[in-house]
Amino acid sequence: METYSNKEQIKDDLSRLREWSLTFTRDYGRLPAYHIQTFGCQQNDHDSEIAAGILEEAGLVPALELESSDLVLFNTCSVRANADDRFFGHVGRLKPMKQDGRPIIGVFGCMMEQLIHRDTILTSFPFVDFLLGAGAMEVLPAAILDTLEASSRKKKTLDLTKRDRDAFAEEMPVRRTRNHRALVTIMTGCNNFCSYCIVPYTRGREKSRPFEDILEEVRRAVDGGAAEIMLLGQNVNSYGNDMRRRGEESPGFPRLLEEVAQVPSLELVRYMTSHPKDLSDELIRVIGTSPKVEPHIHLPLQSGSDRILEKMNRRYTADHYLGLVRKLRDSRPGMTVTTDLIVGYPGETEEDFQATLWLMEEARFDAAFTFIYSPRTGTPAAELYDSEERDMIQERFERLVNLQNRLSLESNQKIIGKEVDVLLDGPSRRDPDIFSGRTRDDRLVNVSFPSMTSLQADPPDKNALIGQYVPVLIEKAGSFSLEGRLDKKMDTQDGADI
Ligand code: SAH
Ligand code: SF4
Ligand code: F3S
Repeated sequence: METYSNKEQIKDDLSRLREWSLTFTRDYGRLPAYHIQTFGCQQNDHDSEIAAGILEEAGLVPALELESSDLVLFNTCSVRANADDRFFGHVGRLKPMKQDGRPIIGVFGCMMEQLIHRDTILTSFPFVDFLLGAGAMEVLPAAILDTLEASSRKKKTLDLTKRDRDAFAEEMPVRRTRNHRALVTIMTGCNNFCSYCIVPYTRGREKSRPFEDILEEVRRAVDGGAAEIMLLGQNVNSYGNDMRRRGEESPGFPRLLEEVAQVPSLELVRYMTSHPKDLSDELIRVIGTSPKVEPHIHLPLQSGSDRILEKMNRRYTADHYLGLVRKLRDSRPGMTVTTDLIVGYPGETEEDFQATLWLMEEARFDAAFTFIYSPRTGTPAAELYDSEERDMIQERFERLVNLQNRLSLESNQKIIGKEVDVLLDGPSRRDPDIFSGRTRDDRLVNVSFPSMTSLQADPPDKNALIGQYVPVLIEKAGSFSLEGRLDKKMDTQDGADI
């Protein structure tokens, strides 16, 4: 079958979109502006980076605010009900803004892979112009062009979710949110069908991206200033399995990780997510012995009860999980382990929940994302959901969060007084004078700068430090972040002494 994404077609779509941008600029005296609202995981974050890259290549610019956008895109997530609800709230608010066909509104991402949500848009939000499938960024220029063409006639929402395309948007422009921490997809989809999860239905089966294409993108990102690379996949441990099943040669994830770690000038490689059933001794060896692989692993546990793990179709036991955590911590001193947990899976008893609390204490997670079970239409677990149990689940959730907050705090307190490397992301949300960043073992640190003004006539530019590792002395710890100050001896890039 010929895929839609033949490169010539996309080039042609892009150049036609560029012509539209030029005409727009002549007519309105300004460049057309876009806004992308992204929900969900890093896979979606990265798809939005590709969408932004395409739009900027076509001559659009980021809008300063939603109200002044000529094109608004929503990249949706369906993993829990609140993700769905937030999207509908946002798109609903655009209705009064829409006049004479502007702004153009497009929706893509995981919700658009589900008929029920597409139908809701078609019937209740007809002012939306087009729908695309999850990750279908190659179809974006065509969708905008089709919308522009149709705008003179009476039209309804264009549903392009079934448009055929390649799994990996090779050679697509990308506008990275953070040049210094580049997201690189190594595979899409999931074969695991955990009984609560919608992802296999929205993202389809596992598909691995060719090894060389991944390395090529990593090299390009490093040339473009990436200190860190984050390799993305729903279950990175099964990288290459689909190719090998087809009889094609492909290295597995341990090799890929080792090769990426050796790319010259790269400081650190991160990866997520690892599934406990597929975490091999070989991978633990690579994580334990490669200085450029992050000393951290995100290893979702979901539940500490074997009974619930089996119902969830996770295919490991609590014991196996604890064994992995021990091996990982032994393989590399100071390694952090973070996790995901679900409370209130249908039929969870107090005893099951106690098993989760016990395992959390044993594993001493450095951080955890905790979720209340959310029934997802089309998944097996949703049929067993009992809304009567909501209050009890909420109460369990609070106990779980309290325990994790204590464990996270204890973990963070251990590094008070130490000097650690922090890759600076830029000004923090609360205070522009304080920069936030991450340690190699993935802790969030808010960094202050020692008084720079008193002796110096010409204070150095802090912004020169964004995207660099700097030594930070940790002074204070909370459950979610640390506070520290830049070590005095640090030199800025241009040699100014802070
Ligand atoms: N592929 C990854 C992440 C998937 S989604 C993995 O397997 O771990 C991220 C997290 O969302 C999951 O780890 C799980 O904890 C949570 N999650 C997924 N479906 C959920 C649901 N229906 N209700 C509540 N939490 C859910
Ligand atoms: Fe969902 Fe399980 Fe796949 Fe993760 S491994 S995406 S939780 S089905
Ligand atoms: Fe959400 Fe889809 Fe990611 S459902 S978590 S955006 S793969």
